[in-house]
Amino acid sequence: MGEQPVFLGPDVVEKYLDYPTLIPLLEKALVNFSSGSEGGVIQPIRTIVPVAKHSGFLGVMPAYSTVDDALTTKVVTFYENKTESEVPSHQATVLLFEPSNGSLKAVINGKVITDKRTAAVSAIATKLLMPSPAEVLCILGSGAQAHSHYQAFTQQFSFKEVKIWSRTREKAEKFANAVEGNICVCSTPQEAVTGADVIVTATMSTEPLLYGDWVKPGAHINALGACRPDWRELDDTLMRNSVLYVDTKEAAQNESGDIVLSGASVYAEIGEVLKGTKPALAEKTTVFKSVDLLSLPE
Ligand SMILES: NC(=O)c1ccc[n+]([C@@H]2O[C@H](COP(=O)([O-])OP(=O)(O)OC[C@H]3O[C@@H](n4cnc5c(N)ncnc54)[C@H](OP(=O)(O)O)[C@@H]3O)[C@@H](O)[C@H]2O)c1
Repeated sequence: MGEQPVFLGPDVVEKYLDYPTLIPLLEKALVNFSSGSEGGVIQPIRTIVPVAKHSGFLGVMPAYSTVDDALTTKVVTFYENKTESEVPSHQATVLLFEPSNGSLKAVINGKVITDKRTAAVSAIATKLLMPSPAEVLCILGSGAQAHSHYQAFTQQFSFKEVKIWSRTREKAEKFANAVEGNICVCSTPQEAVTGADVIVTATMSTEPLLYGDWVKPGAHINALGACRPDWRELDDTLMRNSVLYVDTKEAAQNESGDIVLSGASVYAEIGEVLKGTKPALAEKTTVFKSVDLLSLPE
């Protein structure tokens, strides 16, 4: 029998994944992804199995990077209507294979990877697309992604003010009390968004909660939620009047309800901007819609 795979739990992953390490690796991975056959990344759109009886979904996200010779798949589950449960709404495991023979080398906790990778990619997009100066950060949502984005964004940028809104006000207050730094807890999404230069939408909403009429012209929005074709976070006005960037065109155009239902056109992948083949139109109102591309850092 071959060697048993190693198991890397959340503490180990947490220890090795910091934003200064992750960001340059993900920039490289995004460039490779957006370089077609030259970049050598093979990553089909993920397969999603609805677990309708329990309002859940199982997603399988295989990928192979020729350049890194890395063969992996993430398996993710996500459940709607999680309110008081201790079990996170999103759980993930990454399986790493030996590419030369297909043996399973490692089973890695994917929750920390998902939280940090997503925030790191949003930070990459924000660095390229935010207005200058960018003084006010707004976060809609107070869950795992809100936390990782707050951590990444306060490390990577120098906002003068951070505003947060969450559907359950107590959760936003708990968030504000738990993190370092001053955060203004807002009573409505509109109040939180007003005057913000950079906005993060990190909710499980299935209806629009961010409206274009509230958004300051030139602001940059990182939209993470609404990963099903019939779910929304952003309204049509915002989607149609912003320049739209994505992590992967193919997946975003299939999976993102904000894109599918608004009919908005994708302007570029972030990897194309990093490569210099598409411009970063930071002076315009920009949306970065991410759909959880499993990029393959070395
Ligand atoms: N694009 C990517 O790469 C990527 C990767 C991972 C996750 N995501 C997405 O990011 C979003 C947040 O994930 P998470 O891990 O942070 O989830 P989470 O920890 O469960 O937090 C969910 C947040 O959404 C809010 N919420 C739930 N239902 C809502 C509704 N109907 N209307 C408004 N707010 C609602 C909750 O508010 P209260 O607790 O205050 O009620 C909470 O703040 C999800 O949509 C997830 O699928 C995207």
